[in-house]
Amino acid sequence: MTRWSLRARAAGKRIGFVPTMGALHEGHLSLVRAASRQCDRVLVSIFVNPLQFGPKEDFARYPRNPKRDAKLTRSAGADVVFAPKSQDMYPAGFCTRVDVQSLGSIAEGRIRPGHFQGVATVVMKLLHIAQPDVLYLGQKDFQQAVLLKKLVEDLSIPVKVKVLPTVREPNGLAMSSRNAYLSAESRARAGAIYQALRSGKEQLLAQPQRAWKAAQVMSNILQDARLDVDYAYAADPRTLVPIRAAKGPTMLLVAARLSGVRLIDNLLVDVP
Ligand code: PAJ
Repeated sequence: MTRWSLRARAAGKRIGFVPTMGALHEGHLSLVRAASRQCDRVLVSIFVNPLQFGPKEDFARYPRNPKRDAKLTRSAGADVVFAPKSQDMYPAGFCTRVDVQSLGSIAEGRIRPGHFQGVATVVMKLLHIAQPDVLYLGQKDFQQAVLLKKLVEDLSIPVKVKVLPTVREPNGLAMSSRNAYLSAESRARAGAIYQALRSGKEQLLAQPQRAWKAAQVMSNILQDARLDVDYAYAADPRTLVPIRAAKGPTMLLVAARLSGVRLIDNLLVDVP
């Protein structure tokens, strides 16, 4: 993989890289298409990374569909799919972890201990293997994007990071590989997450000094739709720390569960 990249770069080609865990959907493909518009070569990795799953999480049942994924990535403009085996990424004795400290332990990190260490470790390794010019990420996983930008900045990794908008289902539900676990009825009900974010935004703009009210509005909408709320709050988009009063760019973050499936979403609000 590295040889291919170095050869392309030596020939003056700009390489765009889209890391994924497969089970591709329009959200992933929007990143691949953007990379293929903006770069000369596009590399997509497909690797269900065991390091970022907790012991009670869905690693074993995470949807895998390599043949369909290969076809989709090609038609979206990818030149190469890199799909390593777990034992090649993590041979016996692998013992290094990359830890982006405060950003990795708040919000998702608090509920999924070790998750972001797994993400940072695999992405750092993939960047070294793939040697891209541009790394493409989705805003859907906002905390991941902020954390990976920080990783790149802190460790002086020579790659440009681009974060692209969340692609949604018609009812507002953010596309996610995990949506495959949901029945049609649950998918419809999960539309409440985006409704909550929209109403949270209205509330925040109406009373920016009382950010807790936006949090309350979001929680109420989620609970009315019978979702179990892990968190719903207004945050500083750089640190994800909850804010009391909103001014400037403010992030609304939600994580909720229904039918045993955990979903996350977010909405950036520009508060005047
Ligand atoms: P995965 O969940 O497969 O997502 C791969 C990329 O697609 C991430 O950058 C994610 O933010 C983006 N993405 C997912 N759903 C999206 C949507 N609805 N709209 C726009 N972009 C979307 O995120 C991971 O994999 C892993 O943690 C990874 C970075 C590959 C490391 O293992």
